[in-house]
Amino acid sequence: MTERIVMAYSGGLDTSVAIPWTKERTGKDVIALAIDVGQAGEDMEQVRQRALDCGAVESIVIDAREEFANDYLVPALKANAQYQRRYPIVSALSRPLISKHLARVARELGANSIAHGCTGMGNDQVRFEAAVAALAPELTSIAPIRDLSLTRDVAIEYAEKHKLPIRQSKKSPYSIDQNMWGRAVETGFLEDPWNAPIEDLYEYTQDPTIEREPTEVTITFEQGVPVAIDGVRMNMLDVVLKMNELAGAQGVGRLDMVEDRLVGIKSREIYEAPAAIALIEAHTHLEDLTLERDVARYKRTVEVEWANLVYDGLWFGGLKRSLDAFIDHTQEKVSGEVRMTLHQGRAVVTGRRSAESLYDFSLATYDTGNTFNQDSARGFIDIWSLPSKISARRDKPEL
Ligand code: ARG
Repeated sequence: MTERIVMAYSGGLDTSVAIPWTKERTGKDVIALAIDVGQAGEDMEQVRQRALDCGAVESIVIDAREEFANDYLVPALKANAQYQRRYPIVSALSRPLISKHLARVARELGANSIAHGCTGMGNDQVRFEAAVAALAPELTSIAPIRDLSLTRDVAIEYAEKHKLPIRQSKKSPYSIDQNMWGRAVETGFLEDPWNAPIEDLYEYTQDPTIEREPTEVTITFEQGVPVAIDGVRMNMLDVVLKMNELAGAQGVGRLDMVEDRLVGIKSREIYEAPAAIALIEAHTHLEDLTLERDVARYKRTVEVEWANLVYDGLWFGGLKRSLDAFIDHTQEKVSGEVRMTLHQGRAVVTGRRSAESLYDFSLATYDTGNTFNQDSARGFIDIWSLPSKISARRDKPEL
């Protein structure tokens, strides 16, 4: 029997050409697998048909939006995951999900390898292959663009010569990856980090500088998970879609950064992630109200590690799974409501409340009736500063 390969298929030029190209170079029959992670845009049925028209022996489309929201975005939100303090690891979150389906379909349909459309320069190749290695170590990975010399101009020429059904309508000069957690835009004139982004780059967000009325929104969380917006209960998928709409309309979540890739390159990235940025902001404020001080402080360090691991393609690794257990445990009391104002590119929290609140009015108030024992403060400070006092006697700090 002819060997088979399962290819992550986007419907775009590169992966469309990669189907016949891979068949030609490797002799393997190509099974195309397109995964809907809320990237919007094309009709998935058209995408499915196009893979067949390009020579795939089978073409499968999976709507993984619920799965992506529940199993990937929920943990990311609990972890307040942002790489380099900014990027909400949009692409990095979708790769393990896609890889899992690649590995599953490969096993089910008797394929011995998987393929993806990444170049040899980015993070995504690492994420796909590291995830597949962690789930189905018997499978090998091929990246036609990287391993079978399928460069852009070769792909365009090949598509024309073989009359592949590719929509070349408006060819974007950018490399774009998007899903419901956000959108990444790179290359083109953006490669000069001094060049300012232009309005044209954005699809999920409106221009934040335009005057408009602010939007007020209240988000309800249960154990770290958003479960309602303005009192209307909904699942994570709908929360994300709704927040993209509300925050996107106010220009929230635009990012412009130079990013350190896992492969050592620094790259200029433009992101827009309205729901992600607004939800993370709301979630951290509820944590401020409900987590003990040392738990909150320690969690912030865990969050950095978690985001780094996921960015680096180790979603299915042991450390990431152990950190998940810690993070989940911290979320037990992170329930309540956060009110925020979305306006001019910012999501600003203006109120928070919780039945699990650790905020004690009678301790915090400056008015009479305060129950905090101020007499204890002196003794506390004596002991707290004792080590400093002792070393100061020895070191005689200059003044
Ligand atoms: N730099 C980001 C990351 O590594 C985004 C990559 C998006 N891919 C793309 N083809 N533009 O997660």
